[in-house]
This record gives sequence, structure tokens and C-alpha cells, in this order.
Amino acid sequence: MRNNIGKNICLFSLLLLFCLASVSVFAEDGYRLWQRYDLIKDTKTLKNYRSQLSQYVIQGNSPTLTVIRKELQLALPNLLGNPISEAKQLSGKGNLVIGTPQNSALIKELPLTDKLASMGPEGYVILTTPVNRKKMVVIAANTDVGALYGTFHFLKLLQTNQNIDQLGISSAPKIKHRVLNHWDNLDRTVERGYAGFSLWNWHKLPDYIDQRYLDYARANASIGINGTVLTNVNANALLLTPVYLEKVKALADAFRPYGLKVYLTARFSAPIEIGGLKTADPLDPQVKDWWKKKSDEIYTYIPDFGGFLVKANSEGQPGPQNYGRSHADGANMMADAVAAKGGIVMWRAFVYSNEMPEDRIKQAYNEFKPLDGTFRKNVLVQVKNGPLDFQPREPFHPLFGAMPKTPLMMEFQLTQEYLGQATQLVYQAPLYKETLDADTYAQGEGSTVAKVIDGSLHSYELTGMAGVSNIGNDRNWTGHLFGQSNWYCFGRLAWDYTLTSTTIADEWLRMTFTNEAPFVNPVKDIMLDSRETMVNYMTSLGLHHIMGWSHHYGPGPWIKDKPRADWTAVYYHRASTEGIGFDRTAKGSNAIAQYFPPVQQKFGNLATCPEEFLLWFHRVPWDYKVKSGQTLWDELCYRYYGGAEGVKQMQQTWNAQAAYVDPERFQHVKTHLSIQEKEARWWRDACVLYFQSFSKKPIPAGLAKPEQTLEYYMKLDPKFVPGI
Ligand code: GCU
Repeated sequence: MRNNIGKNICLFSLLLLFCLASVSVFAEDGYRLWQRYDLIKDTKTLKNYRSQLSQYVIQGNSPTLTVIRKELQLALPNLLGNPISEAKQLSGKGNLVIGTPQNSALIKELPLTDKLASMGPEGYVILTTPVNRKKMVVIAANTDVGALYGTFHFLKLLQTNQNIDQLGISSAPKIKHRVLNHWDNLDRTVERGYAGFSLWNWHKLPDYIDQRYLDYARANASIGINGTVLTNVNANALLLTPVYLEKVKALADAFRPYGLKVYLTARFSAPIEIGGLKTADPLDPQVKDWWKKKSDEIYTYIPDFGGFLVKANSEGQPGPQNYGRSHADGANMMADAVAAKGGIVMWRAFVYSNEMPEDRIKQAYNEFKPLDGTFRKNVLVQVKNGPLDFQPREPFHPLFGAMPKTPLMMEFQLTQEYLGQATQLVYQAPLYKETLDADTYAQGEGSTVAKVIDGSLHSYELTGMAGVSNIGNDRNWTGHLFGQSNWYCFGRLAWDYTLTSTTIADEWLRMTFTNEAPFVNPVKDIMLDSRETMVNYMTSLGLHHIMGWSHHYGPGPWIKDKPRADWTAVYYHRASTEGIGFDRTAKGSNAIAQYFPPVQQKFGNLATCPEEFLLWFHRVPWDYKVKSGQTLWDELCYRYYGGAEGVKQMQQTWNAQAAYVDPERFQHVKTHLSIQEKEARWWRDACVLYFQSFSKKPIPAGLAKPEQTLEYYMKLDPKFVPGI
């Protein structure tokens, strides 16, 4: 008998050990994003929070209030290690009260009318205040979704160990439509996606609602993202058929409590492809009627459908120009179809034509600027941050500031198509900030891009910011763990673009990893430097579009003789024995003329052009002296080598962090940094050797020789790169 008990205990312990081992194998895979809610380590902070939070009171019932309750049930007991739960009544102390004046009698009694009046439908206040003479924390908003955003803000305070003794926070979004753009196809491949397949399991929808959909919605709500375009801009008309609309409805229903609206990409030729019409001409009454009926049908499935995102007459997509009509004709026809139900159309300005003898980067401006003022009120024109295509560095798009009568919406790319894809750590907040803070001078100094898109400069009624998603079905969502920081910073900046890259990195690191300063500070430096480091080993001094053919992975400055000149590298860098760079001054393509005069003068003059845009705007001889006193050739080499060296420094910093990170995530980042280090050297050596074949100059003394020959790099032909 004794033996048996002993045996059983032994078996039980083994089983327990096995369970614990499997938990630790699978637990730290990054799935929990920045919403980890682990027990607060700092004992003083923990004690303080425990004394201030003993229960929460939420009056009323709605799907969004249920979401708030669930989040608190998950977060508070885990963070505080105490069984904090919901109560119907206020207790002596430690109350957290959440709601709106409509659903909460407690909140209604508070003098919040003035404060809430300026908070709009999504803003909130978080206050330490007496209720019935008892001190408590109140999260109040005008809507349940506002209260949800406030709840996430409050949880962030706890997660990042902030002082909550005397709170007086109010926050409202600066941008109305904060939208992810998924480039997901119906077969679950993701265009330019590097994190596995699409999250949307169309095959199992509408019946099976994966927990992932809810966790996706939670994550978005936690950073204020309020819209999602489910499908690729290179659109498939099938999406608009009833079979798929049923599935879209299921997703929309799942997302609704989180304040996340669904939008769809619309294929312009859908009336022909699925409607049986002979034309998709936007001025044809039958076509108009088809889109109106289709939109009405969509609204029967999804009463709060957000509207359409359209890529038209771009890279082979059909559009109004197929019928001799303008982009405004196309956009307006669709806008009319959704207007009555409050829908919007996000019409992309990413257009250029191979047939046009004009500098590619000028074409969107040439096309859209004359249309200013001709779009319907519910149209936003969606413009990429720069005039080319999400390069490591581009000057801001000249359309910003140039269309005072048409709301322009920002499009950033979270997925790192040209930024090292999912093998490289590149924190993009500095890139987004650089664009948002750029001065267009549209109405004199201080007319930043941010003020264009938040509507304050030209009084736009509609405002928006889109981020091309980097999310897939990889367990860690974004392929590279640090890719999560780009999803995070996009949401934070769409809510409030005045936040600094440092603040956002700080909060993300604390929530995703740990609050411990010896980890947060050096790793924050890695993040903040990562974008510049990448620019240096890929495309410094204003170089652009020199990546590998088609999949865009790795270097390809030698790419030429392809069916489209504007998809080659030589079109952009124009290297010869004389020099390198694209002359976009009045002597060249004159793209600078698309900017306002002070910007033109700055960029157009070799002496004042910021060095980071040198070869974007100017063609420069190899022995031109740059600011450092070096020749252009030497400077280019130093930057390529400096960038590659920068990755080594990132590795060193990370490798010293093992004590602060669980082994699984530590190893993940470590391994990816070593891939990045290899790729940085690949970029460096391939580009330096290639450009050297024109400069005919030696690599400066002291810099290591490239490891292989130029021919070797030119022959590399990686197959099956993800993301096509
Ligand atoms: C880039 C990208 C394409 C994408 C396009 C777009 O060119 O490589 O895959 O379709 O941008 O933004 O429409």
C-alpha cells in the first residue's frame, strides 16, 4: 500500500513536472503581446496598488461593458496577485468605478459634464476623486468604447508601474479613423506578409470564431485602433458575394464590442466579375445602381459597415481610367453608394504608370492635385508617407499640404517589406514621426504633415491614418517579436502623434518584457537606433529602391532590364563613373517643384539639402565633399560599414539581457539579431562592391574587405521568400 502511494506521488510529480515543462516551453512565445499582466514585481508598488484597488464597480450591461469586465477579471488578479472582483456597491476603500453618465448612476453624479463634453465619442477621463465621500479611481467616458479605451489606459499605468495616487488624465484621439490595412488574400496568403498566413480562416468562417480574432480585437482596442480592412488592396471581387459577406459579418460581430469596425477592399471591376454587367464605368447608371444595391446588401449583414478601401488604376488594378473617367468619378460613385449609411471611401493615391515618361514619384501628385475639391464629403484620399513606396527613408509625400479641399489620410507600412522583413529588428516610430513632424509649409512655417492629416490645417472633417498590417497567424503575431512594437506604435501615434518614439518604446518594453531599468534603458536604445542603423546598411544618403527583384528581400542595386523600368534599381540610383543619384531639381525631373517654396529651396539646393535626402534629390560626383569632410564615396562606404557594425552593437546589448528575459524570447531575439547581422553584411558588401564598379575608388583604409565578389552577390537568388 505504502509503495503504491509512493509510486502514485512519484507519478503525480512527474506529471506535474511535465506539465510545468510544457507550460514553460509554450508559455513565452509572444502570444500575449503587451497584454501580459504578470504579477507586479516591485513590492512597494504592488503594496500601494493593492491598497488602492480592492474591487471594481461597473453599472449597466452591454457587450462592450462585458469586454471591460473580462479584461479586468484577467488583468487585476494577475497583476496584483489578489482576488479582486466586481462589486455592486462601493466599499470603504479601493474602488475602481468605470462607465458613462448614461449607464452609471455613480458617474452621473460626478461633476464631469464639462470635462466629458470635450472628449468626443472615444475619449475618456481617469480621475482620482471622491464618490460618496470615498476616494476612488473613476474611468468615465461618453460611450462604452471610450470607457474601454480608458480601462486599457489604466491597466497600462499598472503594467508600467506608474504612480496612481492622484490621477487626472484626459485623452481623446487626434485622428478619427485609425485603421489597419490587411493585405490578406482569400486563400490566406498575405501580400508582403512575413508572419505566416492570414489570421482570417475563411474556410471555417462564419461558424468558427477563433479566440485569436478576439485577442486581435483586444490588442487593437488597447491601443485605440478602431478599424480594420480585412483584405488585400489587390482585391478579389468574390469577397462581395453573399458567401463571403456571411463570413465578414461573423468577424464584424466578433469585433464590434471592441470598437473595431470592418471595412472591405472593393475591386473596381466587381460589377462585371460578379454582377454580370458589361462595364464598370462609374458614370454608367447601371454600374452606380449595382454598387448602391451591393452596399445596401452589405449593410444588411453589417449595419455599422465602415466602407471601402480602393486601389484603382495602379499596378494593373482596374479603375475608372479604364473608361476615361477620373479617380474622383470612381471614388464618388462608391462614396454615394455608402453615404446614406454613414460609410466612407478610402481611395488610394498610390498610382503611377510605366508608360508615362515622367519620374515615377511625381505621378500621384500630378494625378490627384488637380482633383482637389471634386471628391464627395465621405471620401478620404489615402496617401503613402513618401512619394515612392515605403522605402527605409523617403521625404514626405508632396500631396500633404497640396489638397486643402480633400481630406488626406496617412498610409504607413507596418509590415517591413523594404525594412528587412521579419528577420530584422526595426522599430518604426522614428520613421513615422519623421514624416508626421515634417513641415510642408502649406500655410507657412509649422504646417506639419501631422496638422494636415489631423484636419487642423485645412479643416478636414474626416481624418484618418492607416497602417499596412504586419500581423499573421504566427504565434507571436508579427514574425519578429519586435515587430509587435510597430503594431503598437502605429496605434499609439494614430491616437496621439505628439507622443515621442522614446515614450512609446518605453511603455511597450515595460509591458512586453519587464519594468527593470537595466533592461529597459539599453534595449530602448537598440529600438531607437534601429531604423537609422538599417538605413545605413541599406540605403543611406537618400538612396532608394535598390532591393532584390520582386520579393524585395536583400540587396539588388544591379537590377535592370526588366519589363518595367520603374521597378528596377538603376532607374533610381543612376550610378555611373561620374557620380550617383537622381537629379530631381529644376535641372532634372523637377520633382522638388511639387513642394512649397521653402521646402523646394531647402531640398533643391545641394548646400542645404539634408544629407539624408542627398541622392534622392541630387546627382552628385563621387568626390563631392559631404558635411563630414569625406568624399561622397568614402562617406557611403563608412555608412554601409557603420550600419553593419551597428547591428553588432545591437547584438552585444541584447546578449547582456539574458537575466531579464525568459529563455524563449531571449533566444528568439538573439537568433534574429544574428540573422540580421548576416543580412546587414550582405547588404553592405553587395552595395559597396556594386557602386565601386562605378566609382572606381578603393574602400577606405581600415574597413574590412567584402567577403565575396560582386558576381557572387549578383548570382544569389533567394527562392520562396515569403510575402508575395
Ligand atoms: C508595393 C508592394 C505591393 C503592393 C503595393 C501597394 O508596391 O510591393 O505588393 O500591392 O505596394 O501599395 O498597392
